Amino acid sequence: MGTANDCWLDLQGISKYFPGVHALDKVKFDLRKGEVHALVGENGAGKSTLIKIIAGIYHGFDGQMRFENEVVTFRNPNEAINKGISVIYQELNLVPNMSIAENIYFSHLPTYRAGIVNKKKVYEDTKILLDYIGLSEDPRTLLKKLPVAKQQLVEIAKAISLDTKVIIMDEPTSALSPSEIDNLFRIIKDLKAKGCGIIYVSHKLEEILKATDRITVLRDGKYVDTINTSDATQQQIISLMVGRELSDLYPKQGGSIGDVMLDVQGLTSYHVKDISFNVRSGEIVGFSGLMGAGRTELTRAIIGSDKRLVGKVIVDGIELKRNDTRESKQAGIGYVPENRKEQGIFGDASIKFNMTISTIKNFVRFNGIKRRKELTSVNDMVNRLGIKTPSVTQLIQKLSGGNQQKVILARSLIKEDLKVLIVDEPTRGIDIGAKAEIYTILDQLTRRGIAVIIVSSEMPEILTMCDRIYVMKRGRINAEINNEDATQELLLQSAI
Ligand SMILES: Nc1ncnc2c1ncn2[C@@H]1O[C@H](COP(=O)(O)OP(=O)(O)OP(=O)(O)O)[C@@H](O)[C@H]1O
Ligand SMILES: [Mg+2]
Repeated sequence: MGTANDCWLDLQGISKYFPGVHALDKVKFDLRKGEVHALVGENGAGKSTLIKIIAGIYHGFDGQMRFENEVVTFRNPNEAINKGISVIYQELNLVPNMSIAENIYFSHLPTYRAGIVNKKKVYEDTKILLDYIGLSEDPRTLLKKLPVAKQQLVEIAKAISLDTKVIIMDEPTSALSPSEIDNLFRIIKDLKAKGCGIIYVSHKLEEILKATDRITVLRDGKYVDTINTSDATQQQIISLMVGRELSDLYPKQGGSIGDVMLDVQGLTSYHVKDISFNVRSGEIVGFSGLMGAGRTELTRAIIGSDKRLVGKVIVDGIELKRNDTRESKQAGIGYVPENRKEQGIFGDASIKFNMTISTIKNFVRFNGIKRRKELTSVNDMVNRLGIKTPSVTQLIQKLSGGNQQKVILARSLIKEDLKVLIVDEPTRGIDIGAKAEIYTILDQLTRRGIAVIIVSSEMPEILTMCDRIYVMKRGRINAEINNEDATQELLLQSAI
């Protein structure tokens, strides 16, 4: 605990219950002026809950919170904002149909007298902010026109625009490219120098070791320890987080590689050009490249959700003739999208429903045996991926961010007639234990003869899991690299 003058925040004995879940159990946490304090723990450990308490979103909790040594109780988020606490949430909180400028200044528009909004000033101020965070977009651009990464930067700009003392970042880099991350770290340094305190939540331990001063670990809603980053090692943080020794993170054994399962010939859409490649049965092929290189757009053209202008997509010898996702699904392509929040979560439905929605056919209703089989598969996935929930009938929106991701991922993994699995950023926002489990499952799928495509910005994932790697650049394939020849440098060189 710090002394009165050098701390922004000091929380003691914080407990929070949800029906069936003890999300926080006597947790303590303090934030000094001018420090970056990391908050880490597995999916469902309680990180976001603690943040929401600090931000005034939850008020029914036990324990005491002090801000600048004064006991505070925030009855709503505005009271926290007024103290200078701002949050960049894990789930983006922006309004897609408003401009960048409106999103940034939504809650505190500069006005002339009598509450008239000074539009010109809003745009000018926004421009300055955007320059600072490294976005060249026009402030009038509608937010929905921006890719997720840039939306994340807008969230950050929004936090900075408020006169903040405490900035909370819940997985701020999950959609950012390496250069944008460096840029964010520069901004963080700047804010630190101004005395801001930053709470940094992330599953990326390299980043935490690089950018933070102290680390607090939560496990199952309980406080585990707070350590100085300068004394910490990755291994130490991992064992504090998971509370056990973690088996090999990259379990790849690989199976035998067979015939071509997915063959893409000269595929062109509005976003990608003349793409030809194949994936064999039992093979894992990676797509690397910078943000905006067209990787996600390529997967969308393959599954038929983006229009294919020219070219062929052939699955196990059969050409997909139509541009439609039903056809590709029927042909045996499973797809896990990058933005799982937007595409595919049925918020007010159960975990079980969300996991089996695309497999219903395998588990036909009114049939006792199939129903039991369904429940077995769902329970199996919940256990293997360590999805933290009191039951499989829990609404998915009640799960922590990372656990929601696991459910959507599991949906494709239990598909029985799977021939090709395409996963876009499969481990984004997912904790290290579940990561290892996902890699194990992908590896097992290849041994069942399934062809796997991984689109990923995480170099270690691409380098260790993939048999072959295609590097994309500006909508085209720029290089094909075999696993043996692949290095981080080579991938980066080919991407730029
Ligand atoms: N509104 C809610 N209703 C019921 N349970 C909830 C609710 N919000 C969170 N929980 C539960 O509380 C626990 C802590 O969730 P929290 O979101 O704080 O985890 P987290 O550490 O942020 O995880 P992640 O890394 O996945 O984002 C989880 O078991 C979660 O399912
Ligand atoms: Mg969270």
